[in-house]
Amino acid sequence: MNMIDIINKTKRAIPLEDEEIVFLVNGYTKGEIPDYQMSAWLMAVCLNGLNDRETFSLTRAMRDSGDVLDLSCINGVTADKHSSGGVGDKTSLIVGPIAASCGVYVPKMSGRGLGHTGGTIDKLESISGYRTDLPFEDFAGIVNKTGFSIISQSGELCPADKKIYALRNASGTVDSIPLICASIMSKKLALNADIILLDVKCGSGAFMKTNLEARKLADLMERVGDAAGKKCRAVVTDMDSPLGFCIGNALEVKEAIEVLQGKVKGRLYDICIELAANLLELSGKGTYGKCTAMAEEAVKSGRALAVLKETIELQGGDGRICDDVSLLPQARFKHEIRASRDVEILSVNAEELGMASLLLGAGRLEKGDEIDPTAGIVLEFEAGDKISMDAPLMTLYSTYCSDFSEAAIRAYNAITFRDLTSSALT
Ligand code: URA
Repeated sequence: MNMIDIINKTKRAIPLEDEEIVFLVNGYTKGEIPDYQMSAWLMAVCLNGLNDRETFSLTRAMRDSGDVLDLSCINGVTADKHSSGGVGDKTSLIVGPIAASCGVYVPKMSGRGLGHTGGTIDKLESISGYRTDLPFEDFAGIVNKTGFSIISQSGELCPADKKIYALRNASGTVDSIPLICASIMSKKLALNADIILLDVKCGSGAFMKTNLEARKLADLMERVGDAAGKKCRAVVTDMDSPLGFCIGNALEVKEAIEVLQGKVKGRLYDICIELAANLLELSGKGTYGKCTAMAEEAVKSGRALAVLKETIELQGGDGRICDDVSLLPQARFKHEIRASRDVEILSVNAEELGMASLLLGAGRLEKGDEIDPTAGIVLEFEAGDKISMDAPLMTLYSTYCSDFSEAAIRAYNAITFRDLTSSALT
C-alpha cells in the first residue's frame, strides 16, 4: 500500500478500501506520511468527496488514533451536545446545565476558538480560577455530582484530528462535508456518550453557508452516528447573525448566566430550549412538548443556574458570578458606536462581527495566540430593529487595544441598514 496510489484513487473518485483509510490516518498521525502527500489527498477529498462507507471508515480510524473514553463510571444516561461553531455561540454553557438539572448527565470536552468562531474553553477560562485541565476521574466525579462538566480535550483523544485539522487550516481544505463530519464525529465517538446532539450552524458566521450544505452535513453526521451505534440527532440552526447580543469570552459567560437567570429571552433562549428539549427527548424523558416544558421550567425555577454555579465551584472557579455577573473580568477600554441617522437594521454579518471582535483581542488568528478575556462587542439591536439617530448601536470592549478604529469600522460595516430618512441602503 502506498500514499501515491491512495491519492490517485481519490483523485479519480475511486472509493478507498477501509485498510487504505486506516493506513493513511495512522501513517500521518505517526509522522510516516509527509504533509505534502496528506494535503494532496485532502484536496482530492475536497474536490471529489467520499462515500458514506469511506466517511465512516475515516471517522473510525481517527477515533481509534487515541483513547476512547469509558463513561461507565457515570451514574446514568450520558449525552453530548456539539455545535459546529459560530459567532457568539454560548449554547453549551446554557443547554448543558438545563439538561443536567432535568436528570441527564452531560460530560463535555470542548476546544479553543480559531479565527472568527469562539471556543467554549476560552469562554470558561475567563472565569477566575476555573480549571479546564482536570484529570478524567475528577471530571467524572463532577458529572456524577452536578450532572454537568466541561473540560478541554485531552491530548490522548483523537490525535489524528488534531494533526489533520491543523493541516486542513493551512492547506485550504477545511470546507469539505466528509472531512468536517469525520473531524467532529471522531471526537464525539471518542468521548463516547450514549446520546449525541449535533447543532449544525448555518449562515454567514458558520462553516456551512447555506441551508442545503448544513442539512447535508447534518444528515451525514446522523448516519455516521447511527453506524457507530449511537442515538444521534442533528438539528440545523441559524448563524447568519450572531447568537445573542454579546460576542467575546467573559461577555458571553455573562450573557449565558443572564439567560439562566431568566433575564434574557429571544433567539438565544429559544435555540437553547430547542436544543435542551431535543437532548431530553433523546434521553427518554418524554415527548418533545413535555421536554420543552421541562427545559423552560429548569430555567424558571433557577435549577439550571444552580447546576452551573456548583459546577464552576467544583472546577475551582468563582461561582459568585452566577449571582453577580459584575464579578467577571471587565475591560479597561470601551468605545460606543451610535447611529448617525434614523435607520432600520436589515441584516448583521456574523463573520464580520466575529472578525471585529478578534481584532479587539477576543479571538486568535494563529493557534497559540493569547486572548483577552474582556474583549468583545455588545450589540444593542437585532436584525429588524429600528434605531433612532444618536441611539447606541453597539459597544466595543478591550483591555489591551486602546485604538478601536479598525475594529469599529469592521463592526459598523458588518451591519446593513435602511436609511429611514431616505430610501438609500448603506
Ligand atoms: N469543527 C471541527 O471540529 N472540525 C471541523 O472540521 C469543523 C468544525
